[in-house]
Amino acid sequence: MRETVTVDLPGRAYEVRIGTGLLAQAGVEIEPLLSRPKVAILTDETVAALHLATLEAGLALQGIEADALALPAGEVTKSWGPLERSVGWLLEQKVERGDIVVALGGGVIGDLAGFAAAILRRGVRFVQIPTSLLAQVDSSVGGKTGINAAQGKNLIGAFHQPSLVLADTDVLDTLVPRDFLAGYGEVVKYGLLGDASFFEWLETQGPALAAGDVRARIEAVRRSVQMKADIVMRDETEQGDRALLNLGHTFGHALEAATGYSNRLLHGEGVAIGCALAFELSSRMGLCSQEEPSRVRAHLKAMGMKTDMADIPGDLPDADGLLGLMSQDKKVVQGTLRFILARGIGRSFITSDVPREAVRGVLRDALANRL
Ligand code: GLY
Repeated sequence: MRETVTVDLPGRAYEVRIGTGLLAQAGVEIEPLLSRPKVAILTDETVAALHLATLEAGLALQGIEADALALPAGEVTKSWGPLERSVGWLLEQKVERGDIVVALGGGVIGDLAGFAAAILRRGVRFVQIPTSLLAQVDSSVGGKTGINAAQGKNLIGAFHQPSLVLADTDVLDTLVPRDFLAGYGEVVKYGLLGDASFFEWLETQGPALAAGDVRARIEAVRRSVQMKADIVMRDETEQGDRALLNLGHTFGHALEAATGYSNRLLHGEGVAIGCALAFELSSRMGLCSQEEPSRVRAHLKAMGMKTDMADIPGDLPDADGLLGLMSQDKKVVQGTLRFILARGIGRSFITSDVPREAVRGVLRDALANRL
């Protein structure tokens, strides 16, 4: 089973191919892009142990030679040291302007490898082979690449679109349930932000999808990627609509910062809780009915996901502390916080017109476990 979504950017159109067996077929998929039968793969040690041999065998079937560099797994790899190491290694491999760099991994490797490709010889092409659900539905598509700075996450980077994305749903079987569900937080986000019928579909199909139903997984990835592609085609560099993809992220990033970007809260978990809070805020501001945040939370709970602040282990700052962390977010424009709120499920919009007191009230009640 195979689905294709095209990201139709002028002069840089590319396909996102979604389905089973794509790793083993990577040679056939990638070969038309190559100027010579050779690629350089950037990956991490965990993913390499699970999937590199399958990828290399798939490339070898088409006579494509592959060299690979496996970096340590984890967010710490999205930094200057590993970037320098990657670019140096790619130069040692004599990667030329017409060659392809392959990013095999989750969001960290995709962002790092994409940025390395963006700056190597002033830009070489790259192929994303995302191995986490989060990377398949979000970070591998749309061309945001980069690393973290001491001053904050994703502050150094470039827009550099991949030439192809291969989302092999088989690799999702190797994810631990917690990582799968964290990625599912981003899937739910798409339904909430722009497609009520998709959210409704997830309410019925979510459990099967989590249990491993291949058709449901492919459909969920396809619909998510199609929605992201549509938004990226309208607004590649986030001058406007692309910010909709940040639904749940203003609250989520504050919670991630409050938990030290640690294992206490994964990014997708922060997004899921953040979506629930964004709907609560929307309801309190009279933008949507009270039933909508309850419905969002009911689905997250039914999926066994982190839904409320009470689901985050350990202490959290108080409401003012969290508000302070929000004010340091990238989405602050000229001192004003930008929120993605909703007039209902599937009807989100961007606004800076949010009373601080309303946000404080939502945070205070969420911390007191009263939501
Ligand atoms: N992950 C949000 C974006 O790609 O814009």
